[in-house]
Amino acid sequence: MTSLLDDLRAAIGADHVLTDAADLAAYGTDWRGAYRGTPLAVVRPGSTAEVAAVVRLTYDAGVAVVPQGGNTGMSGGAVPSNDGTQLVVSLGRMRRVREVDAVGGTITVDAGCVLADVQAAAASVDRLFPLSLGSEGSCTIGGNIATNAGGTAVLRYGMMRARVLGLEVVLPDGRVWDGLRSLRKDNTGYDLTQLFIGAEGTLGIVTAAVLTLQPATPARATAWVALPSVAAAASLLPLLREYAAERLTTWELVARPALALVLDAGLQDPLSSDADWFGLIELAGPAGASVDDDLERALGAAVETGLVLDAAVAGSPAQRAGLWSLRERISEAQESLGPTVKHDVSVPISALDELVARLAATLEGAMPGIRPVVYGHVGDGNLHYNLSRPEGLDAAAFVARSEELSRIVHDLTVELGGSISAEHGLGSAKAAAAAAYKSEVEVSLMRAVKQALDPAGLMNPGKVLPLG
Ligand code: FAD
Ligand code: MLT
Ligand code: ZN
Repeated sequence: MTSLLDDLRAAIGADHVLTDAADLAAYGTDWRGAYRGTPLAVVRPGSTAEVAAVVRLTYDAGVAVVPQGGNTGMSGGAVPSNDGTQLVVSLGRMRRVREVDAVGGTITVDAGCVLADVQAAAASVDRLFPLSLGSEGSCTIGGNIATNAGGTAVLRYGMMRARVLGLEVVLPDGRVWDGLRSLRKDNTGYDLTQLFIGAEGTLGIVTAAVLTLQPATPARATAWVALPSVAAAASLLPLLREYAAERLTTWELVARPALALVLDAGLQDPLSSDADWFGLIELAGPAGASVDDDLERALGAAVETGLVLDAAVAGSPAQRAGLWSLRERISEAQESLGPTVKHDVSVPISALDELVARLAATLEGAMPGIRPVVYGHVGDGNLHYNLSRPEGLDAAAFVARSEELSRIVHDLTVELGGSISAEHGLGSAKAAAAAAYKSEVEVSLMRAVKQALDPAGLMNPGKVLPLG
């Protein structure tokens, strides 16, 4: 192994090959500390040529690599195995915005660019890069592509997949595929670009991307609402669309226990309602768009029909930021309750009510006092059905039962026609579970794709597809 490390130092510079235990620690675990591994070493290449040189060396040495961006993932996809055999390839130094084309509506960026920086680069030419996640200050475009990230504006703009026109990828044997095209139309065979999106680094390392931009939406209208039920939240979607059409950008749901966590963390409650369910609505449009009026009319109709109990509308940018914090800070706030058993499920929106009601009853039966902290992207039929331990239950005893608890959540999700990973990906956390729910045909097709691109099995092994 010394010779591989020496070769890596020669290829990208000794300063960018980390081997000290203290330096490796942050790269060997995810942000929650839920998945832990031990990297062989961490390399931080500074260019596509350097990524390719690294992968050629590891390929020749038979060493597996784990691509890592901002390490904000939820499924352990960027965490190496714990046997010290896998090399973490961090894209953190590759943060160049290569080109912004305001006329063509595209931006070309290195994969290590932080999402917020891409949003800012778009804003600097009066355009919008609409992917929006609570982690946008740390997650990278490469990670967003590899996980096909979702977030809070999918309702209007789709997932990351919809933003990508072209990619540059270092393949598992170190060759570079230059697919950095900015074409809106290109029917010249299999869509390789889409193949790498959502592959979680198992088919290659994304080094750059051409992404589409949207017109800026400076006019925004935002409301926090109290709801009588999950069924009302689902029924509100067509009503909001009726009044706002494509300007409806965000429709998020928050259960009372989730709200309680962020209020305990010091945020202000805009409503003081005793409802069990709350939601965040945002309409956005070009300068001068009538979003305030549209929102007011939609809320009026919703209150009249009993779908909304009460509403607070943001009257200033500061108030808007306050309402958004109520939603975006939940994930982090739940960590205060100890380990979280996370779920990221989607079902047809009409089945959300049944999902929530049946899960609450079944989980309480399985573990009395268990605390579901439910929130998510209701407009997409996607809930984060996260579980915290009953008060007084030891953390280890709770985690020991996580598989059984997840099976309850996933079985019902699948029974209702849903998916066990709506937006976070499978990583190591859900690879086996997803394979168990998929048909043999689907799993064998996925294995064939993996085998075709990575026959040596050295690109992020054990993620997406279980080993063996
Ligand atoms: P990492 O965590 O570093 O990696 C994730 C996966 O991508 C791994 O499998 C890794 O191997 C692979 N990968 C990373 N870079 C590359 C590359 N260049 N080439 C190939 N593979 C690569 N996610 C959502 O979808 N919606 C949300 O609303 C959302 N909200 C979040 C809120 C918070 C507070 C946090 C902490 C996370 C949230 N996430 C959300 C999860 C996470 O931010 C996303 O999955 C994000 O896309 C991961 O990006 P990253 O750069 O951190 O990737
Ligand atoms: C979010 O939407 O806040 C994240 O995707 C979810 C999570 O923390 O589980
Ligand atoms: Zn989410």
